[in-house]
Amino acid sequence: MESAKQRPRAAHFLLAAALVASLAGCVSAADPDPLRDFDPPEVPSNYAPPEAYFKFDLLHAANAAQGPGGNNTRATSANFPALRSQGISYTLFNMRPCGQNLPHTHPRATEILYVISGGPVLVGFVDTNQTAHLNMLREGEMTVFPRGMLHFIQSFATTNVTSISALNSQNPGVIIQSRALFDLPSEVVATTFSLPQDQIRAVNGTLPVSQALALGTSNEGCVSGVLPPELTYLDVPAPKGEQNVPAPGAR
Ligand SMILES: *[C@@H]1O[C@H](CO)[C@@H](O)[C@H](O)[C@H]1NC(C)=O
Ligand SMILES: *[C@@H]1O[C@H](CO)[C@@H](O)[C@H](O)[C@H]1NC(C)=O
Ligand SMILES: *[C@@H]1O[C@H](CO)[C@@H](O)[C@H](O)[C@H]1NC(C)=O
Ligand SMILES: *[C@@H]1O[C@H](CO)[C@@H](O)[C@H](O)[C@H]1NC(C)=O
Repeated sequence: MESAKQRPRAAHFLLAAALVASLAGCVSAADPDPLRDFDPPEVPSNYAPPEAYFKFDLLHAANAAQGPGGNNTRATSANFPALRSQGISYTLFNMRPCGQNLPHTHPRATEILYVISGGPVLVGFVDTNQTAHLNMLREGEMTVFPRGMLHFIQSFATTNVTSISALNSQNPGVIIQSRALFDLPSEVVATTFSLPQDQIRAVNGTLPVSQALALGTSNEGCVSGVLPPELTYLDVPAPKGEQNVPAPGAR
């Protein structure tokens, strides 16, 4: 029979167990490991798929999103089933001068972005300390957007920029922050910004309405080929060879 004295101890144990369980949840929150070589939709498991099952035309994918700032295509488990259970996907971008991939997050993936041709593009993310980490990339350079962090790409190039992103989820998901915020009731957004609702509605009216317009351009904030003076310090080549900048402490 449990005494009154033992009960708090039991409560502590339950709390500790819950904490361990939630931490375990954190470390295994990426896509699960595959349970077999590959995962065709067909059963039985001895199904031999045709070779083309593993081939995909990313450049001409039917999910092309066209926006004023360019276009992109994605290969995810949704349109390329061979990715199922593999924990990985691709996005290919073709960005016009001054194009912007609007600030967004991927709730289920870290992203690595490689600039195939063109540049410079400003890239960056904001961490949980509200610190923005900005870099200017040119052809051949890459960056990483840690999972779940708000990030963007802004071209300052005079020609189209082609880049590709790999994401460590078969279905990374995307939340475009400006769009998501304005999906809330105007009363809520007005309170968020401490602005009258008519001003909120006016700003809302200028936002891209869908993900297809995720690649925006604006005459505000960008002149193609001209780096903002306060950002020119970022336009330096990445270190050659090893990246030997000391790793910062964990956050
Ligand atoms: C630049 O990108 C736009 C939008 O994707 C495309 O329509 C245009 O043909 C591209 N221009 C060149 C020179 O590739
Ligand atoms: C973008 O549009 C151009 C021009 O229409 C096309 O050639 C290219 O395949 C498209 N790229 C992507 C990544 O969708
Ligand atoms: C956290 O943010 C503050 C304010 O922006 C900044 O001064 C500080 O360097 C940041 N800390 C770290 C560890 O990046
Ligand atoms: C913003 O516009 C969209 C599309 O018209 C609408 O669904 C949404 O309710 C609006 N949001 C606000 C906060 O007014």
